[in-house]
Amino acid sequence: MRQLFTRRAVRLRNAAVAVTVLASTALGAALLPGAAQAADTPLRDLAAAKGVYVGNAVAGGKLSGTPAYAAIAGAQFNSLTPENAMKWGSVESTRGSLNWAEADQIVAFAQAHNQQVRGHTLVWHSQNPNWLTNGGFSATELNTILQQHIAAEAGRYAGKIYAWDVLNELFNEDGTYRTSVWYPALGTGFIANSLNWARQADPAAKLYINDYNVEGIGAKSDALYNLVKSLKAQGAPIDGVGLQAHFILGQVPSTLQANIQRFADLGVDVAITELDIRMQTPSTDAKLTQQAADYTTVVKACLAVSRCKGITGWDISDADSWVPSVFSGYGAATLYDEGYQPKPAYRAVATALGGSTTSPSPTATASPSPTATATPTTTATPTATATPTGGTGGCSATYSVPNQWNTGFSGNVVVACAAGSSLSNWKVSWDFGAGQQLTQAWNATCTQTGTRVTCTNAAWNGTVGSGGSTSFGFNANWSGSNPVPAVTLG
Ligand code: XIL
Repeated sequence: MRQLFTRRAVRLRNAAVAVTVLASTALGAALLPGAAQAADTPLRDLAAAKGVYVGNAVAGGKLSGTPAYAAIAGAQFNSLTPENAMKWGSVESTRGSLNWAEADQIVAFAQAHNQQVRGHTLVWHSQNPNWLTNGGFSATELNTILQQHIAAEAGRYAGKIYAWDVLNELFNEDGTYRTSVWYPALGTGFIANSLNWARQADPAAKLYINDYNVEGIGAKSDALYNLVKSLKAQGAPIDGVGLQAHFILGQVPSTLQANIQRFADLGVDVAITELDIRMQTPSTDAKLTQQAADYTTVVKACLAVSRCKGITGWDISDADSWVPSVFSGYGAATLYDEGYQPKPAYRAVATALGGSTTSPSPTATASPSPTATATPTTTATPTATATPTGGTGGCSATYSVPNQWNTGFSGNVVVACAAGSSLSNWKVSWDFGAGQQLTQAWNATCTQTGTRVTCTNAAWNGTVGSGGSTSFGFNANWSGSNPVPAVTLG
């Protein structure tokens, strides 16, 4: 089943950031359904206060192409794992021809957001290039190929990766070693070898072995436990164990915390690396409530063991999740629904991380906008658009605030061209009128001088074709008020 999966067509509804296109100098406000979370403290801040990280798997195309996805990825998480971009089949589908574009993009996004990166994954049986799987290589050749791969990939990102899933999914369910391109051809020696090669290439990265169905105590996790113990005894560089945690509703193992603890007691870190909790679709309120309880159980188990370093979710929203395409009849496994609205599970994770369970006070979260007609305490989402003058007629930039909390907010700017117009590079600027201060940006290079913010395209999104669009995002601080600026393109 865990072969190269074809992703289902992604169904995206960007409701959370529906952009209102207005006349060139107009300002407006829109109320978003379910935007009450916009005033909440982001998960990343809650996690940091507890001494853990909270991450998610991401795809480069969505970071640059789906504004709601990028806004959540940037604002809510302080760790990212490339969902597919660092897998061997992604980086070297043709032997000797290395393609780092998406992995580079994700690392750049993470750096721009002050996020750490979990590298995933260097050695696996799945999502390998055909030339490797079907190459008929001898053991000696395989050994050299593996060494070179690890040196190249871990070397490229040396110093930029918090932790590498060096080895992924080594075991069968009964605890025997999985047959793969590596085993039994290379015996079990490739395991310590891979760790040593990764250490040489990136001495700063924590080196993990990652697997699924090892979250509770059982034959498979016993095998992993014994492997880690023996690697430690040999002096091999093993720093951590990743528990993927692809769970089924109501079936979080009762031994999860005890299992995390026994690995910690071996002297390694532990992380929840790919958490999702799937249910038979359609979802119901009762199932979503159960799911929230299950997420709480997982977060609490990690927080209870000091060597449990963090929790990574697998896919931002139910629209992005790998689950429906792989587990027939199942879905709704993530923290956000298909419209990028937070689910009960999001609230449960925030609460388990120490977040407030009551609504924030209106004074701390008011989001005034010059033309807001209602006076919501937390849900006003300003949007503004400016049609440029000069040589870019037919293209426009539209500013919105998909997420705002008590001291900060995430902004999003869509650069779009009507049919017949295009841009080969772009610059968007505005003045922050109430002391707002930019802290980070992604998919653009942004600087703030005084009140003036100027953003230019990133290397990969300067071209906006006829009828096309791209977007970038940023985080900024605010206090008092957060009025919408007029933006200029050009
Ligand atoms: C999955 C991705 O989410 C999918 O997009 C891809 O088609 C298949 O792989 N265990 C892992 C992850 O270690 O790399 C897998 O990710 C999910 C299971």
